[in-house]
Amino acid sequence: MINTIILKLYGDESDNEKLKQGARALKEGKLVVFPTETVYGLGANGLDAQAAHKIYEAKGRPSDNPLILHISNKEQLLPLVSNIPSLAQKLMEKFWPGPLTMIFEKSSIVPKEVTGGLDTVAIRMPSHPIACRLIEESKLPIAAPSANLSGKPSPTKAEHVKKDLMGRVDIIIEGEHSDIGLESTIVDVTGDIPVILRPGGITLEDITEVVGSVEVDKGIIGDLDKEYIPKAPGMKYTHYAPNAPMTMVLGSGEKVVKKIKDLTKTYIENNKRVGILTTNENIEKYNQGVILSVGKRDKPETIAMNLFDCLRQFDEKEVDIILAEGVEDKGIGMAIFNRMNKAAGHQIIRV
Ligand code: TXA
Ligand code: MG
Repeated sequence: MINTIILKLYGDESDNEKLKQGARALKEGKLVVFPTETVYGLGANGLDAQAAHKIYEAKGRPSDNPLILHISNKEQLLPLVSNIPSLAQKLMEKFWPGPLTMIFEKSSIVPKEVTGGLDTVAIRMPSHPIACRLIEESKLPIAAPSANLSGKPSPTKAEHVKKDLMGRVDIIIEGEHSDIGLESTIVDVTGDIPVILRPGGITLEDITEVVGSVEVDKGIIGDLDKEYIPKAPGMKYTHYAPNAPMTMVLGSGEKVVKKIKDLTKTYIENNKRVGILTTNENIEKYNQGVILSVGKRDKPETIAMNLFDCLRQFDEKEVDIILAEGVEDKGIGMAIFNRMNKAAGHQIIRV
């Protein structure tokens, strides 16, 4: 057990002492959790193989699942990659800092322990002020997966991190709720056409606008291809999963509500505790079960922000089964759908 130190930085990015303490710990090879605009990250020195090893241990993460390196300016990118393709240049001009991770050919200074043995490396420049200041102070690329135990939903609040990682990391920097709430979009820029390996806050539509043609890795589209192995190693694991089995119900509004109400009634008759994941527009229509609204349908970014927190709340409320209203697979909806689908282990009912 490690004696975890909590450093609170709510709205006070100017607290130099705390940031310096975090940066020092990183330079000493320690583990430091910090907030980002997507989800909280579990950081370590990205050029130190042993520090990377500690990340895998703390999360219980399979070591073939590579980490993302976080940088705070473009100069930091050069030494980490063997070349910067022109389409990457365009994407970083438009979307960095922000929730976009790109896959490059790696340089020799990036340890294989960080890339899970691959010759490529994932790099992202976060926009969150605390993340940026921590990278600047430490002068390191910070390797950081999401700061959850492997298999749990990614943490969007400090309380999620504490639940999973107290005693497993050296420092937790506690900040606000992550704005975006879903992990970054991952784009492979090593080929002629960029390929989206994981949908996120930067959408397919956003990327298409900048580079023209874009592919989406087959492993993440819809629910069709259960057999296909996704190219981002992390996308193949069961992820984001609440304890209770979840089913996503897809279709037109009223039919979805009716189906969930019918199923809820039957489950309750069989003494099951049912969790219902609904939205502000529909919440009044349900009258039994543990009902949570994840956000507003007409503002899907609110759904993205709250999804992981709701999944964790269902764990706290110890439901036996979760029925979730599906979302449309467009814009940020592609990322929301992808995470819900994974949480549901591809259990979908269409009405
Ligand atoms: O928003 C985010 O990206 C957050 C915050 C903390 O920045 N980080 C995050 O990291 O989600 P993680 O480790 O939970 O997810 C990283 C994903 C995994 O699916 C991994 O397989 C993929 O990135 N990945 C990393 N390096 C890769 C590479 N060289 N090629 C393909 N996929 C890669
Ligand atoms: Mg993760």
